Amino acid sequence: APSLSYPAIRVGNIRTLQNNQPLYFAYPDSRAQAILIKLGRPALGGVGQNRDIVAFSATCTHMGCGVQYKGGRLVCPCHYSMFDPTKAAQVYQGLASTGLPRIRLRIAQNGDILANAMEGLIWGRTKNV
Ligand code: FES
Repeated sequence: APSLSYPAIRVGNIRTLQNNQPLYFAYPDSRAQAILIKLGRPALGGVGQNRDIVAFSATCTHMGCGVQYKGGRLVCPCHYSMFDPTKAAQVYQGLASTGLPRIRLRIAQNGDILANAMEGLIWGRTKNV
């Protein structure tokens, strides 16, 4: 998927992130739910010392419900599509046919985690912004 850049926003700081405690935020605009997770194990495209910090659109690619992080995976409560956060949120179960758009992250000198681009199109939109 093409990577589309948007103004960077601060999502959190590596010093306060806890393994497996998701941070919900909005990106690239206030209506676009997104989720950031420190997985505690390396992930495809992960940032940070352990390459374990990832972020995705939290809008399910099946019909747009909000995806949650549970038991190490991203799960949609509507029809139980499941996405693997260690593999760029590809679908491994359920009705969704594509993975969740990935949000590109950068870590600043002071440990702030910045979201600055998105790969893929948010469900239900013809443009992300
Ligand atoms: Fe997520 Fe149907 S909306 S599985």
